[in-house]
Amino acid sequence: MEWMCRPDSPVPEAAEQLLASVPEWFGLPEANGDYIEAARSKETWTVKGEDGGVVGLTLVDRHFPHVAELHLMVVDRQHHGQGVGTAMVQAIEQDARQRGVKLLEVKTLGASHPDSGYARTRHFYEQMGFLPLEETDLWGDQNPCLFMIKAL
Ligand SMILES: CC(C)(COP(=O)(O)OP(=O)(O)OC[C@H]1O[C@@H](n2cnc3c(N)ncnc32)[C@H](O)[C@@H]1OP(=O)(O)O)[C@@H](O)C(=O)NCCC(=O)NCCS
Repeated sequence: MEWMCRPDSPVPEAAEQLLASVPEWFGLPEANGDYIEAARSKETWTVKGEDGGVVGLTLVDRHFPHVAELHLMVVDRQHHGQGVGTAMVQAIEQDARQRGVKLLEVKTLGASHPDSGYARTRHFYEQMGFLPLEETDLWGDQNPCLFMIKAL
């Protein structure tokens, strides 16, 4: 299926549902609460299924005009591995190039943590052209935070 990703108005209820579908990645209630709160106001991009329901969501931060950060990216569990995440990155990247944005950034769990789900997540971002930049303790000792970056 050819997925279309477009800018959307905030969809916090959809964010809550999508996060709940992937508890292995998003299992901390406090962190999920922060993401749902962020979904009320942050720039939102969605992919919708045939019934109009949201199957993929990305929230974007713009810290500086030259950079766009994928603050939250999540695809409904039933739709993993079908190109939804790829469609979201490609759409945001195309828009970023048109705006003159030079860098895409994402933070994710680093490889010094053994979680196999996040290993697939990093593989996804690497396939999308992101490079690991630096692993930091921004999220504390237990959750190494990897900065990944893609030059446009
Ligand atoms: C990571 C994620 C956004 C990718 O979106 P997606 O629609 O599943 O990915 P696509 O179908 O466009 O791309 C598939 C590629 O992603 C990789 N991938 C990463 N996580 C995957 C997953 N949970 N299921 C299937 N494929 C996954 C696959 O290995 C595949 O690469 P391959 O063709 O070499 O096998 C999505 O799987 C997801 O929401 N995962 C859980 C939450 C998460 O990790 N969010 C990012 C946190 S920083």
